[in-house]
Amino acid sequence: MKIGDRYYRSIWQADDGRSVEIIDQTRLPHEFKVVSLTSLNDAAHAIREMQVRGAPLIGATAAYGVCLGLNDRASALDLEMIANQLISCRPTAVNLRWAVERMSSHLLSITEDLRVDAAYREAALICNEDVRVNEAIGTHGLELIRKIYKNKSSNEPVHVLTHCNAGWLATVDWGTALAPVYKAHEAGIPIHVWVDETRPRSQGASLTAWELAAQGIDHSLIVDNAGGHLMQHGMVDLCIVGTDRTTWTGDVCNKIGTYLKALAAKDNDVPFYVALPGSTIDWRIENGLKKIPIEERSADEVLWVQGKTQTGSIESVRIAPQETSAANPAFDVTPASLVTGLITERGVCSAGRAGLLSLYPEMGEGK
Ligand code: MRU
Repeated sequence: MKIGDRYYRSIWQADDGRSVEIIDQTRLPHEFKVVSLTSLNDAAHAIREMQVRGAPLIGATAAYGVCLGLNDRASALDLEMIANQLISCRPTAVNLRWAVERMSSHLLSITEDLRVDAAYREAALICNEDVRVNEAIGTHGLELIRKIYKNKSSNEPVHVLTHCNAGWLATVDWGTALAPVYKAHEAGIPIHVWVDETRPRSQGASLTAWELAAQGIDHSLIVDNAGGHLMQHGMVDLCIVGTDRTTWTGDVCNKIGTYLKALAAKDNDVPFYVALPGSTIDWRIENGLKKIPIEERSADEVLWVQGKTQTGSIESVRIAPQETSAANPAFDVTPASLVTGLITERGVCSAGRAGLLSLYPEMGEGK
């Protein structure tokens, strides 16, 4: 996506051909800072501390993490240690395991002396594929938005509600939930996005709002609790969210609070779509609620908020009494029954076994 007049991806290989550059998402929206990753530890740190986040980008960063780890050691045992270190960084987004396993199985089929170059080629392939896949998600999602727009009486915009950040910053480019929004904007369809702020880390306020503003797309930031009210008053035409892991039975794990939006959408007959690449489908898990590991993050993310003061400095302030403790589950699971449809790179399907297997028949064996 363009920022000003320059085109950026969220991760890229540096000119030295070895290090990798990312946009430090912990600094947005107040500072646009590019950070260089030169080692496996740098990549692991970037994922763990959420300088990069969002399921597809976590996967892409892990792929480059393998490259960085292999730079000075490339045996099968090294590869296994690198893979384990990366996979342990964040538990919920399945793209992390998907990318590391894809890298490992490809590299194990190659002799040790050729592994480093092969790793960089495979990581670049993963990134390029991610861009193509997300653009295709955008094209399929655009048709849903177009249909809603055609049924509107006047030139009124289509109102989309989204949660967290599933825009281009969460992927290599385009995003998942926001790809249809970008496509609709490109196609000249008037569009307005309700942006959930997404406490505790405020990915909606700091990242989604920043992305949409940079592309000139009309949007309003809302507190996480406003969505149900807006839906009750006919102010949301559809919800589109991303996902960190979707089971082959259609249960959707996404940023905490997604489930409540899906419940409100169901109660108000608002279509609730989930946009995802094939790499986010977990073909090993049947029951999302019971089996998807939910990341529990630091209580400080709930007890403190970070922002820019009127004098321009970035500061954290505590919002609860000193003696109050906090719980911080980072994700929740929306059961398939609350999901209107899944927007994938291969088309839109119902959330469930039949729908997913109609688009990914090659995964059908044994299911
Ligand atoms: O904790 P985060 O910021 O990595 O969580 C991100 C989300 O929950 C996104 O909605 C999800 O990864 C989909 S991103 C295309």
